[in-house]
Amino acid sequence: MTTFAIHTYGCQMNVRESEAAAKALIDAGLAQAPDEEAADVVIVNTCSVRGKAEDKALGKLGLLCATKRTRPGRVVGVMGCMAQRLGEGLFKRLPALDFAIGTRCAERVAPAVEAALQGRPTLALRGLHERPDAPSGHVAGGFSAFVTILLGCNRRCAYCIVPDVRGDEWSRPARDVLAEVRALAAQGVREVTLLGQSIMNYGLRTPAFDADDPPSPGGYALPFPRLLEAVAAIPGIARIRFTSGHPAGVTDELVRLFREEPKLCRHLHLPVQSGSDAVLARMRRGYTREGYLAAVARLREAVPDLALTTDVIVGFPGETEADFQATRTLMEAARFDNAFIFKYSPRPGTLSATWEDDVPDAEKARRNQILLGDQDVRGAALNQALVGTTQRVLAEGPSLRNKARWSGRTSGNKIVVFAPPPGLRPGDLLDLAITRAAPQTLYAD
Ligand code: SAH
Ligand code: SF4
Ligand code: F3S
Repeated sequence: MTTFAIHTYGCQMNVRESEAAAKALIDAGLAQAPDEEAADVVIVNTCSVRGKAEDKALGKLGLLCATKRTRPGRVVGVMGCMAQRLGEGLFKRLPALDFAIGTRCAERVAPAVEAALQGRPTLALRGLHERPDAPSGHVAGGFSAFVTILLGCNRRCAYCIVPDVRGDEWSRPARDVLAEVRALAAQGVREVTLLGQSIMNYGLRTPAFDADDPPSPGGYALPFPRLLEAVAAIPGIARIRFTSGHPAGVTDELVRLFREEPKLCRHLHLPVQSGSDAVLARMRRGYTREGYLAAVARLREAVPDLALTTDVIVGFPGETEADFQATRTLMEAARFDNAFIFKYSPRPGTLSATWEDDVPDAEKARRNQILLGDQDVRGAALNQALVGTTQRVLAEGPSLRNKARWSGRTSGNKIVVFAPPPGLRPGDLLDLAITRAAPQTLYAD
């Protein structure tokens, strides 16, 4: 039997499209390889968000293409954001490549593999203004699943390549989302994470796509909070998460749901990017420092145990020491549980790539280290404060470090390591008293 492996870089959008491609390959009669080395077909799902992400994927693809010299029948393909961005050019760089499939058309992967096995290459790209295909197939067996509800992005933050590789924003019809979640619940899935770049925009209409997809009763997109309620009403679903947030979407409705809907996890990923108004304006983020902190304050007041995580970019063009210090103080004021900190990387075709990348790399690295250091201290203190509390944990399975113990997650998305009671299954919920905290882990001994 022909076997395949998919190596995924980038965000959850890519993880989700890799899963949809894997499901289609399994349906076409292929089997998941035990490891990448053994696979007859290897697919790299790529990310373009920073230059380094593309370099890594290109390096990986170069090595894989080289293995074809000693394994002539092997198929090597690429999908995702870098495939969308570089398209045809990838075949010039990598002459041995069998196929390149862009974003929003994971259904093209299985036919491309079939063609490659017969020696024919494929290039498939969906236009950025074309109505996308949402990934819908899932590989059976898990207790937790991603569901893509909003594709593309219209925000055009000055630094960001995502709109150029994932196209126009489009809300999937609610009926499709709900049917997918119902089917997952029927297969035993207990937790769903809804995905979208600027997910709280879910439900805004895309007039250009309405002709293909006219609204039907109860069918088209619902406003985001209504969709959350509809997902919460599906029997079998115990937990709902979503990502990524934007302060403009922190409406009274959403705050109320965080407070009142027990299935909605008490965690919000709310990327801030910078704490300086001057930088936020140049980034075109659409909020100020004060506006962001006001959204956080409303959330904290209604939901004191909400965990908050964020993304930050250091070294954006023109970022001064004072701008950087403003980011530091904002992070302290917002009391983030966790933060992903990135060094600015100019991306071809974006607005900020036309400006001088004037913060030297060593300075970006210094600012990165300082924010990471601050965050370690803050995260450890916030975890320490959970010692002595009881947390409801969704059991995931044996812990990686010590197989006799299990790990699971709190509603706030923190990892808890504990001794499993007899008969515990992945996806079960249990209440655990937290006895000890490390910077990235809680323990219930
Ligand atoms: N849609 C999400 C972000 C998706 S990209 C949002 O707006 O919240 C994930 C993260 O990568 C961003 O939050 C940002 O912090 C980072 N990022 C995006 N473009 C970048 C660039 N050119 N250089 C460095 N980091 C970048
Ligand atoms: Fe990129 Fe901004 Fe869209 Fe996020 S909201 S994907 S940062 S353009
Ligand atoms: Fe990367 Fe594409 Fe996601 S650029 S961050 S994989 S949307």
